[in-house]
Amino acid sequence: MNIRDLVSELTLTEKAGLLSGGDFWHTKAVERLGIPAIMMSDGPHGLRKQDDKGDHLGVNDSIRAVCFPAACATAASFDRSAAKRIGEALGDACRHEKVGVILGPAVNIKRSPLCGRNFEYYSEDPFLAGRMAASFIDGVQSRGVGTSIKHFAANSQEHRRMSSSSNVDERTLREIYLPAFEYAVRETQPWTVMCSYNRLNGVFASENRKLLTEILRNEWGFLGLVVSDWGAVSDRVAGVAAGMDLEMPSSDGINDRKIVRAVESGALSMEDVDRACERVLNLVYRAVRNEDSGAAWDMEAQHALAAETAADCMVLLKNEKSVLPLSKSAKVAFIGEFAEKPRYQGGGSSHINSFKVTGALEAARESGLDVIFAKGYSAADDEAKEEEIAEAVAAAESADIAVVFAGLPDSYESEGYDRTHMRLPECQNRLIRAVVRANPATVVVLHNGSPVEMPWIDEVPAVLEAYLGGQAVGEAEVRVLYGDVNPSGHLAETFPKKVSDNPSWLFYGGEPSGTDYREGVFVGYRYYDKKEMDVLFPFGHGLSYTEFRFDGLSLSESRVGEGDTLEAAVTVTNTGSRAGKAVVQLYVENASSEIIRPLRELKGFEKILLQPGESREVTFSLDRRAFAYWDTETGGWSVPGGTYRILAGGSSRDLPAAASVGVEPSAARPVKYDINSIFMDIMKDPRAMEILGPVLRRHEEDNTISGREGSEAAQSAVSEDMAEAMMRYMPLRGIFSFGGGVPEEEIERLLLLLNSRDEN
Ligand code: BGC
Repeated sequence: MNIRDLVSELTLTEKAGLLSGGDFWHTKAVERLGIPAIMMSDGPHGLRKQDDKGDHLGVNDSIRAVCFPAACATAASFDRSAAKRIGEALGDACRHEKVGVILGPAVNIKRSPLCGRNFEYYSEDPFLAGRMAASFIDGVQSRGVGTSIKHFAANSQEHRRMSSSSNVDERTLREIYLPAFEYAVRETQPWTVMCSYNRLNGVFASENRKLLTEILRNEWGFLGLVVSDWGAVSDRVAGVAAGMDLEMPSSDGINDRKIVRAVESGALSMEDVDRACERVLNLVYRAVRNEDSGAAWDMEAQHALAAETAADCMVLLKNEKSVLPLSKSAKVAFIGEFAEKPRYQGGGSSHINSFKVTGALEAARESGLDVIFAKGYSAADDEAKEEEIAEAVAAAESADIAVVFAGLPDSYESEGYDRTHMRLPECQNRLIRAVVRANPATVVVLHNGSPVEMPWIDEVPAVLEAYLGGQAVGEAEVRVLYGDVNPSGHLAETFPKKVSDNPSWLFYGGEPSGTDYREGVFVGYRYYDKKEMDVLFPFGHGLSYTEFRFDGLSLSESRVGEGDTLEAAVTVTNTGSRAGKAVVQLYVENASSEIIRPLRELKGFEKILLQPGESREVTFSLDRRAFAYWDTETGGWSVPGGTYRILAGGSSRDLPAAASVGVEPSAARPVKYDINSIFMDIMKDPRAMEILGPVLRRHEEDNTISGREGSEAAQSAVSEDMAEAMMRYMPLRGIFSFGGGVPEEEIERLLLLLNSRDEN
């Protein structure tokens, strides 16, 4: 089918109509020309297919489906293949249900632990978020179903979510908030990109030409369709011109009519409208071509996959005195409502109608384990109930080990609003303290989409972070707690000690006019590391029931320049007595330079299974980008030259294997010198020194302090260091102010010579 010809057969009204939804979840059909409609549905942690009584808040029911671990958990697996397998399963579900596009993955950066949607997002680190998203997209799209990477861009808060302006400087945008999108787009070509609700630097994402056309298409080569977040359109006409193709769900025809009028008046070009129509039709026919009503959807098999991946996502945060794994013959008290009714997913548009849910209590009893239960608290309450605490204490006292299933209730974190603090409900903190006092062999299992404070951390010997693990979370928890699965999750975000330690704390949420991302590139560990700040658990942290040794980091080159790739290899050995999966993380520590940069940044990760005593070499490729920062002056990536350290290990703060590499700088950009250029900068540039050197030296000689006459008091006012510094920071014009004896015309002539030579 020739899409362009088809577009030419549409009337202007039909064209405008095609650019918004037919109902909440479908594109518009054009019966006259036999153009079908396709369905999009939410996810991305399961398929949330609704009937026509659609809503984007998770209010109305959707079909029964399988709920996989949320992105906060899958990112912690540090396992691309886990994300891919979940994607494949969702692709199968979509095909079976004739859903053409699933609305995910969501890759916004976790700027603050308070963001209500953090559970839907992968990480505070764009490298990790981009890789997990790309694998997820690969998985879904391998089934002939489209994805919608969202929410593009800088959508890291829920407060005033449909109007707030995220005010982000260019460098921060390029280094932190865009790269996850960039990587996924370049590597996997998602069928669609969903623009976010917020404004970016004052301009709504849905009408932001720089974002939707200049960066997304012209720079990254995106070929698919841009869809609005549901209700994200403000100025539809501006949006069409900016590259926002499809408005969802619709504006009841109002915006369609505006498009028609704008074309008629000449305010919008027909080419812009045609281009958007072509993209809609390309998407529609791509989805229709792949529709397959006979596709199988085996929910039980997917439930098993949900259990398997959930177990691989769990992060063992602390395990002193080897409390874990539990012995299968031990008498164990499971305490807390979440043991029975786990919190396993977040609220809002990603909410899945799970076809079944298994809690840990049910899973343990089904496996014939000796487990007693006490409710301990009610998820609906903040205040502790004395009887519940007393019952929990009695259960803990009567058992060998107590396991408290704690976490955030639904009301604490959700799409739509942000948290105001990082605490667990008071009743749970009290319960944990009471239980560990009654039985020091206490384990806490956490169910939450974002970090929480742990005021009891020094008293509790073991903590397992289960995140929001999907409908099979209980099975996964039992496997990990009893050692059938060796935990291998690592944190995809820092757990600060308290929320006010977070770098965005002073500005998060912003003011009515917008929210300034003033912490810049110092998001998450990039901040805590540079500040040398103690955290509760660092980015990348995760324990295992075995031990891994990282050694012998070797590099393929001792020096790399433009166009070179550096190979780094590190040997990982399982030195313990159990098989386990190691997460190998590779960081680049930036060379010292005048550019203000994070101390080190994640540039590679792999997960590998190692038998006891087994060693394996893991290799990583580092291209130029691994050393680069965004240079706002040139509007491109630039590498400061110097010695960079490459570090490998099991957490951002445990990097025992290290090696250094010399990195050639990017070609220097021509600098324009003027009378305000300072001596220090001129002296660093050999080309400038060739011309200005003699003048500078003459001025320096005339102004040295040694050998000068003057009282002792006068002499001691000016140290050598001070005089030297004065000279370093002296602008050229200082030569006139401080008696350089060089005529102004002479300096002007030299500057002209220098600057014009650079132009040639
Ligand atoms: C959310 C999106 C979602 C859409 C459709 C919006 O409110 O921000 O993530 O895909 O609704 O439900």
